[in-house]
Amino acid sequence: MKINNNKLFTLDKFIEDSLYNKKYGYYMKKNPFGKKGDFITSPDISILFSEMIAIWIISFWEKLNCPKKFNLIELGAGNGEMMRILVATFNKFPKFQNSCKINILEKSDLLQGIQKKNIRGKKIKWLNSLNELNDLPCIFIANEFFDALPIKQFIQKEKKWFERHVDFVNKKKLKYLDLPFDMKKFEKKIKFNISHKQKFVEYSPLATRYLKNILSKVKLNGGGILVIDYGYSDKKMKNTLQAVSGHKYRDVLNSFRNADITYNLNFYLINKIIGKLGSFFSIITTQKIFLTNLGIMERAEILSKNKPFSKKIEIYSRIKRLIDKNEMGQLFKVMCITNHKNKFKLGF
Ligand SMILES: C[S@@+](CC[C@H](N)C(=O)[O-])C[C@H]1O[C@@H](n2cnc3c(N)ncnc32)[C@H](O)[C@@H]1O
Repeated sequence: MKINNNKLFTLDKFIEDSLYNKKYGYYMKKNPFGKKGDFITSPDISILFSEMIAIWIISFWEKLNCPKKFNLIELGAGNGEMMRILVATFNKFPKFQNSCKINILEKSDLLQGIQKKNIRGKKIKWLNSLNELNDLPCIFIANEFFDALPIKQFIQKEKKWFERHVDFVNKKKLKYLDLPFDMKKFEKKIKFNISHKQKFVEYSPLATRYLKNILSKVKLNGGGILVIDYGYSDKKMKNTLQAVSGHKYRDVLNSFRNADITYNLNFYLINKIIGKLGSFFSIITTQKIFLTNLGIMERAEILSKNKPFSKKIEIYSRIKRLIDKNEMGQLFKVMCITNHKNKFKLGF
């Protein structure tokens, strides 16, 4: 996108460019993960996180009656750390491993390169589009994928709807501008009433497109998706847009192309969208309940046996970060969506 003085962009176009501009976008030019980067995600906090996901995937495959071939697809694989541990865990389950075709969908060429280095020597297909997937059952995994997709914001003022824009007064001065918006026409176009009983709406057209595509594959060939993300389930939506760099919250507009811009998923809305897409089974819980039910504490006990005290403390303090309700345990939610008849509930 070309930026000139007085140019106006809808919020989703602004986020799309800020994060994914081919040359200058945040995710296209730097590796943001880890202590020295801008933020840390669960796979980098503890390998036990990815091991629990591996157990969940293998159990789901069993619930699908152990198909001889199926697709595993990680959406937005970051630095590849989760896939590295998944692959290492699958090595211990040869029958499963022989059945599993591993795919990654990753938008950033730079991160694809980092993933290829991190998961060296393993048979993995990097997809350009989900349409490249063949007609096999599919298990999709999305950890902090949907919160990295651009959103639109709509604001109601005196019973009228406005869409939030970003006004580039000049390259250094950016400000929000809310412009009148024909919500009825938009809702007719997307065939979905997003503004019902709301004063503020956050909506990602791209996330809806992904869900539609993914669930049409699940409907056709079986399987499901596991979504792990920041989020809340209240009916009422709120403004959750935020920018993060150097492990600190930043001003969104001052961070153009230099910080991660995210939002909290509204799982109530996602459930409504799923309802419009067909007859699916969806279930949701917190990250704390999910990881605990899958046995993260028992695994930690095994791992820390015969380890020095300092190592034991490290293992458990990392787990605390993942499951404590004041850290990631409560704010992070886990959602599983499968075909209506499947009803796989492990971890929930
Ligand atoms: C917040 S990071 C999460 C990375 C990783 N899942 C983790 O937990 O560490 C979001 C990831 O999604 C990727 N991504 C964002 N939009 C995408 C899209 N439309 N298609 C594919 N990948 C995308 C980003 O490049 C990045 O790898």
